[in-house]
Amino acid sequence: METDRGPVMPSIERRPLQKLSDILEGIIMVTKNGTSNGVKVAVLVGSLRADSLNRELAEIAVANAPQGVDVSIVDGLGHVPFYSEDVDSPSGLPAPAGELRAAVEAADALLLVTPEYNGTLPAVLKNAIDWLSRPFGEGAIKDKPVAVVGIAAGQYGGTWAHDDARRSVGVAGGRVVEKIAVSIGGAYQRFAENRPADDAEAVTQVREAVASLAGSVALVA
Ligand SMILES: Cc1cc2nc3c(=O)[nH]c(=O)nc-3n(C[C@H](O)[C@H](O)[C@H](O)COP(=O)(O)O)c2cc1C
Repeated sequence: METDRGPVMPSIERRPLQKLSDILEGIIMVTKNGTSNGVKVAVLVGSLRADSLNRELAEIAVANAPQGVDVSIVDGLGHVPFYSEDVDSPSGLPAPAGELRAAVEAADALLLVTPEYNGTLPAVLKNAIDWLSRPFGEGAIKDKPVAVVGIAAGQYGGTWAHDDARRSVGVAGGRVVEKIAVSIGGAYQRFAENRPADDAEAVTQVREAVASLAGSVALVA
């Protein structure tokens, strides 16, 4: 519509600021890997226990992934032998180590979900990081955004383990997403009656962590 002062601008609809996870809903992102059908997040779990709370946290990440984000758990870490340069050769590569590398190679980002064992990260997870760090400078983890979250019995929720995992990932060549920090403590009390999936705060924290991690992929794509 024209007036003697020029065209009348339509009123601008004001919406409340959206959270990152909401913004990611429905977005189809072209990622570093050249895929156009979403961001792929691979998850490594630091506990092999059948009834693991951290495994359940990882499953929450899968079940609550924002639209356009594909989250999948890499199984079989318990079958990956301890890293040795003697077997890390194309001819002798143990199959589970090759599968771990391939799964992480195919992902755009990595989420580590882990408890704390004796003040640091469990050996199974450290071993996985070691395999992903080689060949030196060209490992599957190289330049990949990596976030660390988890549940532990202690009051600090495994922050030593999580900080150590971040440091190790950084040395291994990964790009640690420092702003993502979810360390859920007091596991024995907090999950005595409820499982993590029943814990609304835990579900929200993990969902936000995945959205933020996926967002960091989009930023470097
Ligand atoms: C070998 C071992 C060492 C542990 N060390 C710690 C520790 O240093 N700090 C802590 O908060 N919890 C520690 N815990 C308790 C774990 O945080 C707790 O059992 C947790 O639920 C394990 O994770 P999961 O349920 O995913 O298996 C330890 C447990 C085990 C089995």
